[in-house]
Amino acid sequence: LAVPSPSFFRSQLPLSPRNEPQLSVFVVASRFTMAHSDPSASKVVDIGLSEEFAVPSHVEEVKKLMAEFAERHGSAGRRVVLITSGGTKVPLESRTVRFLDNFSSGRRGASSAEYFLDSGYAVIFLHRHRSLYPYTRLYTGVNLLDSLRLETSKEDAGQVLVDQNALPNIANILKRYQAVKVAGLLLPVEFNTLSEYLHLLKAAAQALSSIGSKAMFYLAAAVSDFYIPAYEMPEHKIQSSNGPLQISMKMVPKMLSPLVKDWAPKAFVTSFKLETDPSILLERARRALETYNHQAVVANVLDTRRGYVVVVTKDTQQELVLTDEEVQKEVEIEDRIVSNLTAAHSQFMSQQI
Ligand code: PMT
Repeated sequence: LAVPSPSFFRSQLPLSPRNEPQLSVFVVASRFTMAHSDPSASKVVDIGLSEEFAVPSHVEEVKKLMAEFAERHGSAGRRVVLITSGGTKVPLESRTVRFLDNFSSGRRGASSAEYFLDSGYAVIFLHRHRSLYPYTRLYTGVNLLDSLRLETSKEDAGQVLVDQNALPNIANILKRYQAVKVAGLLLPVEFNTLSEYLHLLKAAAQALSSIGSKAMFYLAAAVSDFYIPAYEMPEHKIQSSNGPLQISMKMVPKMLSPLVKDWAPKAFVTSFKLETDPSILLERARRALETYNHQAVVANVLDTRRGYVVVVTKDTQQELVLTDEEVQKEVEIEDRIVSNLTAAHSQFMSQQI
C-alpha cells in the first residue's frame, strides 16, 4: 500500500453544504492506497440505503444469482452461509484516485469458507476484490511462474509441469476445490467500495430470506464506519495546490440493524467485533448483541486474532484458544469458530420449528 505524499494532506475538500450531524476528522495517519476509478459504481438510486451510496450497476443481476443459489441448496435441504470478507474502501473523489481502506486480509473469511464447505454448507462468499480467496489463499506467497516448468525434451516439448515442492499439498487442495466447484457449492461475489458492499449485502439478505432459518450470516468483513456522501464528493482529483486537506465524513448506518429486523429476520446472524484494546472487547461485543439482538458475536483483538477469539451469545461466552503445539501443527482457529457456530446454528434451527 502506498502512503500519500505530504502534499496530499494540504489540499482541501469542500465542506458540507448541509447542516447535518457528521464527523469531522483531519486524516493524518489513516491507511491510504491509490486506485483507479470504479466503473461499476455508477448511478445513484435510493433503494432504502438513501441516495448517498451509489448503486452498483450489476446488483439486480447478482441478487438473482444469489436467490437461485439459495433456492437450489435450500430445497436440497442444505444450509447456506453468507460470508463477508475483506475491507471496504471509501473513495475520496468520484473519479477515484485516493481512498480510505479498512484493514482486513480476508484470511478469516476465506479459511472459514473452507470449513463451512467441509461442514456441508453452501457458501456465498461476498469478498473484497483481490482479498484472500478459499483454497488459493494457501498459495498467496508463491510466484506462479516459479511453480511451473516448461518441458523442452523432444517428446514433451511445450508441456507445462507443476513443481509440487513449490505448491505443497497441491493435489489434495485441487481435489477439494474441484469437488466444491463441480457441486456448485461456492458462489463468489466481489465488492470494492463501501457502497458496493452495502447494496450487495442487502441484496444477499433479501435473496436468502426464502430459506428462513437455514441461512447464516457470518459478517467478518471490516466495514468502514465513515464515508463521504456521493453528493459531497468532488468529481476530480483533489488538488494539493489548495492547501491542507480537511475531510468531513458522515457515520455509516450499521447494517446489522435492518439485516436482523427487516431483511433476514429468520436467519442466524453472527457479527464480528474487532478492537485493538483488549480491555473493552467483551463489553463492546455484549453491547452489540443487546443493540442488534442477533445470535452471536465473535470478538477478537487485532494482534491476537489468529490464536484467540471469544464467541459471545445471549447466554454464553466461550473462549477459543489455540495452544502453541496446535499453532505449530498449523491448526486454524477458524476451524474452531466454524464448528462452534454450526452447532449453535443447529440448535437455533431446532428452536424455530
Ligand atoms: O481478514 P483478516 O486479516 O483475517 O482479519 C479478520 C478481521 C479482524 C477483519 C475479522 O475477524 C473482524 O473482526 N471483522 C470485523 C471488523 C469490523 O469491522 O468490526 P466493527 O467493530 O467495525 O464492526 C462490527 C460488525 O458490524 C461487523 O460484523 C461488521 O460487518 C458490522 N458492520 C460494520 C459497519 C457497518 N456500517 N455495518 C455493519 O453491519
